[in-house]
Amino acid sequence: MFLLCFSLAIRMRCLATMMRPGRSGPAAATAARCQRQHRAAPPAGNTYRARGGARITGRQSGPPPPRHVPAPPALTPWSDVDVSGTAATPLARKRKSSPAAPKMAPPTPLLAVRGSEGLYMVNGPPSFTESTAFQRDSGKNCKAVAFSKDGSLFAWCNGEKVNIVNITNAELLRSFDLPKTVCLEFSPKNNVLATWQAYTTAKDGTAGVPNLQLHDVKTGKCLKSFIQKKMQNWCPCWADDETICARNVNNEVHFFENNNFNTIVNKLHLQKVNDFVLSPGAQPTKVAVYVPGSKGAPSFVRLYQYPNFNGPQSALANKSFFKADKVTMLWNKKATAVLVIASTEVDKTGASYYGEQTLHYIATNGESAVVQLPKNGPIYDVVWNPNSVEFCAVYGFMPAKATVFNLKCDPVFDFGTGPRNAAYYSPHGHILVLAGFGNLRGQMEVWDVKNYKLISKPVASDSTYFAWCPDGEHIVTATCAPRLRVNNGYKIWHYTGSVLHSYEVPPNEEMWQVFWQPFLDGVFPAKAVKYQAVPSELPSAEPKPAQAYRPPALRNKPATSSKLHEDEPPQNMKPPGSSDKPLSKTALKNQRKHEAKKAAKQEAKADANQEPAQSSAPQNAPRSTVPVVTSGDPEVDKKIKNLKKKLKAIEQLKEQAAAGKQLEKNQLEKIQKETALLQELEDLELGL
Ligand SMILES: *[C@@H]1O[C@H](CO)[C@@H](O)[C@H](O)[C@H]1NC(C)=O
Ligand SMILES: *[C@@H]1O[C@H](CO)[C@@H](O)[C@H](O)[C@H]1NC(C)=O
Repeated sequence: MFLLCFSLAIRMRCLATMMRPGRSGPAAATAARCQRQHRAAPPAGNTYRARGGARITGRQSGPPPPRHVPAPPALTPWSDVDVSGTAATPLARKRKSSPAAPKMAPPTPLLAVRGSEGLYMVNGPPSFTESTAFQRDSGKNCKAVAFSKDGSLFAWCNGEKVNIVNITNAELLRSFDLPKTVCLEFSPKNNVLATWQAYTTAKDGTAGVPNLQLHDVKTGKCLKSFIQKKMQNWCPCWADDETICARNVNNEVHFFENNNFNTIVNKLHLQKVNDFVLSPGAQPTKVAVYVPGSKGAPSFVRLYQYPNFNGPQSALANKSFFKADKVTMLWNKKATAVLVIASTEVDKTGASYYGEQTLHYIATNGESAVVQLPKNGPIYDVVWNPNSVEFCAVYGFMPAKATVFNLKCDPVFDFGTGPRNAAYYSPHGHILVLAGFGNLRGQMEVWDVKNYKLISKPVASDSTYFAWCPDGEHIVTATCAPRLRVNNGYKIWHYTGSVLHSYEVPPNEEMWQVFWQPFLDGVFPAKAVKYQAVPSELPSAEPKPAQAYRPPALRNKPATSSKLHEDEPPQNMKPPGSSDKPLSKTALKNQRKHEAKKAAKQEAKADANQEPAQSSAPQNAPRSTVPVVTSGDPEVDKKIKNLKKKLKAIEQLKEQAAAGKQLEKNQLEKIQKETALLQELEDLELGL
């Protein structure tokens, strides 16, 4: 029985590898949509990963008496503005100058736990006792759960009712008779609770009843209900101040204002809007929309500022690309740029079961770029630093690379290669955890990203979930069903590598989900980075001796015989001597030219080495069929020329194969690169 479970668990893990870990998986695409940290997880313990987006304002958690917590700085630009146009009140001014409430001890975030032992909350560090702010719901049917964005309210469905509790005083605020709710979510300012249940048609085939409901939290009244067939992107998206709310209906986006859901105030209509994301933070709200390509036309992402949707010049920025079955769009916190991960369902080169991914950058100032990733393979994860001026990508065949880029999409720091597939910035953005979860062993690298120094290297084996505590100091890792059915439990760490608390469910129980109570920005002040492991009564999880990643087929062979030592060390990409100053434009150009030259030389050399058989082939046949186009940039022209040369060679190889010639292994490999090369060519020719 145990063996059976175990092998099942292994299989689950294998399966899990097909989804990118945490946030970048399918659930994550949904999660990213509204840029909300606490988006309700899909039912049954999906390893949904909360976004590192906005955190929330000071609510006192746990039993201590409520205290006044000042308005968080994130909201001040909006909440302090006197709408009548007069100056901000003295009180508002005062608040602005002392945003973080220096004298008051910050609250202790709660950790909510959902599983076969019911739904309950644990006080965060240092006590780890069960919280009395929430009375344990022992039912085994707790599916939908959500904190409000500021962490003050909590809603859940236990298979009978949807309840809302005030976490500050443990008071049950509302109870709705909605036993079939599978998803729920609060609007950003807690005015509305949205609930969704599966859409069903009546037995006679007539249309079903509206299954998406918007409830007024204060009165309990149902404000509006809609038919919303798909669970994906079920929830309307609000701007943070709730003045705008948007839904994607029949390939267009409908906008409502001030929570009046009876009037569609604006519509965004393009060929077919497949997905959209509203910008986070203060007004004006911007909208990123994704329109998939059709009939040979490229897909594109466009940025608009609400409500300027009309006229050809109204878009703030455009970015088009070929080959995208789906995209994930990630706004940075300052709402100045969007990262777009475009994926195809399958990799036509057969090189990866992740499909093919490309990473694009598009900014509200009209700039856009393809982010050049210096290693082939899947893109596992992409995250914005909360500072909004840098982002980290984890990518490439294992051992994967991780690189931090700036807003010019130039690499700033390269972490080399390692067994990793996920990245998580701390809420204050000064620490970055690179981790290898899912089919990897749970190695974490905790980096100080101001100084790019490694802080700790703990191992959280079998983790299916990771989340930073809003305090910026602690981390939870968890092993949850159904991804893993054995050893379910969670650990709370200090980022210096100490395990402060660990809980494992009894053998016949399961844990489905853990998640932190969110807080608004500014509640927890940023603290100096520590390097010394904080003391703990629990044994620290000793990092296992570093091992290079080895494919399963090679694991039982002696290490020395393998050529897999392609581990690269971390590398600062800023040129020495100019520590923080970016390269001048000319210097940058020269550097790029130099690199391009070097790369071209190497490629030419490699080609020469690999193609002795072809040198006599019709290599020099006139390329008159290829029209000569010039991009205006000699460097790009050169790249295009190079790509075309390679594609031509592939064409010839294919002809030879078709003629019955037995191809060499390296020649076959070359043919497999065709799709990737074509994509690159398309991008270059589109001037992307
Ligand atoms: C929650 O309880 C606190 C403390 O009693 C109170 O100040 C606050 O208004 C309550 N929130 C709601 C939404 O009822
Ligand atoms: C975006 O595309 C539209 C239509 O192709 C064009 O009219 C507009 O000028 C573009 N905007 C930017 C910022 O490139």
